[in-house]
Amino acid sequence: YKEVILVHDITNFQSRAEEFFPLHWFRKMLSEKPVYYHEETDTWNVFRYDDVKQVLSNHEYFSSEGSRTTIAVGAKNKEGTPPDKMNISSIDPPRHQKSRSLLSAAFTPRSLKNWEPRIRSIAKQLVKDIELNTTIDIVQALAAPLPSMVMADLLGIPLKDSHRFKSWVDILFQPANRENAEEMELKKQVAAQEYYQFLYPIVVQKRTQPGDDIITDLLKVDVDGEKFSDDEVVRTTMLLLGAGIETTSHMVSSTFYSFLYDDPNLYVQLRKNPELIPLAVEEMLRYRFHNAKRHRTVKKDNNLLGVELKKGDVVISWMSAANMDEKIFENPFDLNIYRPNNKKHLTFGNGPHFCLGAPLARMELSVALTAFVERVPFIEPVESFDLENNLTVSAPGQSLTYLPVKIVH
Ligand code: HEM
Repeated sequence: YKEVILVHDITNFQSRAEEFFPLHWFRKMLSEKPVYYHEETDTWNVFRYDDVKQVLSNHEYFSSEGSRTTIAVGAKNKEGTPPDKMNISSIDPPRHQKSRSLLSAAFTPRSLKNWEPRIRSIAKQLVKDIELNTTIDIVQALAAPLPSMVMADLLGIPLKDSHRFKSWVDILFQPANRENAEEMELKKQVAAQEYYQFLYPIVVQKRTQPGDDIITDLLKVDVDGEKFSDDEVVRTTMLLLGAGIETTSHMVSSTFYSFLYDDPNLYVQLRKNPELIPLAVEEMLRYRFHNAKRHRTVKKDNNLLGVELKKGDVVISWMSAANMDEKIFENPFDLNIYRPNNKKHLTFGNGPHFCLGAPLARMELSVALTAFVERVPFIEPVESFDLENNLTVSAPGQSLTYLPVKIVH
C-alpha cells in the first residue's frame, strides 16, 4: 500500500471552517507562491490553472504511478481493494487506456440516458418525505442518502437490501484521523468483507439472469478479449463507490450551504427558472467544491513549472485553487451562475484520468435540485447554526455533517 501524504500538514488551516472554504489561502497561494515546495511533506504544490492542468494531463512527465498518494479510501484488505486491472487511478497511458475502456462500458451516454428517470424517482422519493413549514437537516434528508441510493439502484441491488448497502457504505467512507485510524481500518475491513459476501452471489446470479444495471454491463464487457471475473466485478463496484459516494454527497450539501449563505436570491431564481439549474450546478462545482486536489509523481526531470523538478518528486495539483485563477475566470471569487466559461473548472480533473462519473455526478445534482425546487417554495438558514462544529474531514476535504434548512411554505 502506498504511503499517504497528509495534505492537512501542507495547508495548516486553523479551523474546519477555514478548510471548508479556503478562499483566503487560495488567493494567497495563487498570487504569492504559485509553485510551492513544502518541506515537511516533501511535496511541490501548484495552484495556477495552467500548471494544474499540465500536471494532471501531461502524463509523459507527471505520472499517476508512484509510491506516495494523497488519497486514502476503502479498506486495506483484498475485499476492499480494486482488482489489479482496475488500478485505473494509479496507472498511466497506454496501460491506463485498457482499464478505462473496461470501466467505460458501464458509463456510456446510452446508459446515462436510461439512468435519468431512475435518479429522478429516487430524488422525488427523498424530497416527498420533506415536511413543509419545519426545519430539516438537508444532509440526512438528501445529501447523504441520494448518492448511495443511486449507486445501489444503478448497480442493480434489490431495493429491499439498499439499507444494508448504505450502512456498509457509511462505514467504508467514514473518515479516519490520526487518533482512531487503526480502529476505523478494522471496521472498514469488516464492512468490506460483509459487502463482498453480500454482493458476490448477486453478481453470480446476474451472469445467468442479466439485468439493466452496471453489474450486468461489467459482466458483458470484452475489450480485446479482456473480461471481468465475478470476483473482479465485485471489487470494481467498490472502486465506483469510493469514487462516487462521498464526492457527490459533498457536492449536494455544499450547494445547499451556498444557497443559504452565499446568495439567498439564487434559490428563488432557480425555482422560477429551473432551466438555469445546470448552470448553477457547474458554478457550484467551480466555486463551492473545495479541496479538490490530486497528486502526480515526476517521471522525467523537467522544468515545466519553472522550477527544477527531479524524477520521483511528488507534485500536488490544487484544482479548487485553479478554479479561482483570475487569468481564466473573471472575478473568480464571486459566485456567478451566468459566467460563460464555468464549465472549464478542473473539479473533475483533466486529461486521460478525467472523472468517468462526471456526467452522472452532474445529473445527480441537477435532478435533485429540480425535484427540490418543485416541492419547496423557499428556504432559509437557521440563525444559530455553527459551521465549525458541523464539519468533518472527508475525502473531498471538510464536509458538512449537519445543515439545518428552514422549509418555508
Ligand atoms: C476520477 C472528481 C464523482 C468515478 C476522478 C478525478 C477527479 C474526480 C478529480 C480525476 C483523478 C485524477 O486525475 O487522478 C469527482 C468529483 C465527483 C466525482 C468532484 C462528484 C462531485 C464520481 C462518480 C463516479 C466517479 C459519481 C462514478 C460512480 C470516477 C472514476 C475515476 C474518477 C472511475 C477514475 C478515472 C481514471 O483514472 O481514468 N473523479 N468525481 N466519480 N472518478 Fe470521479
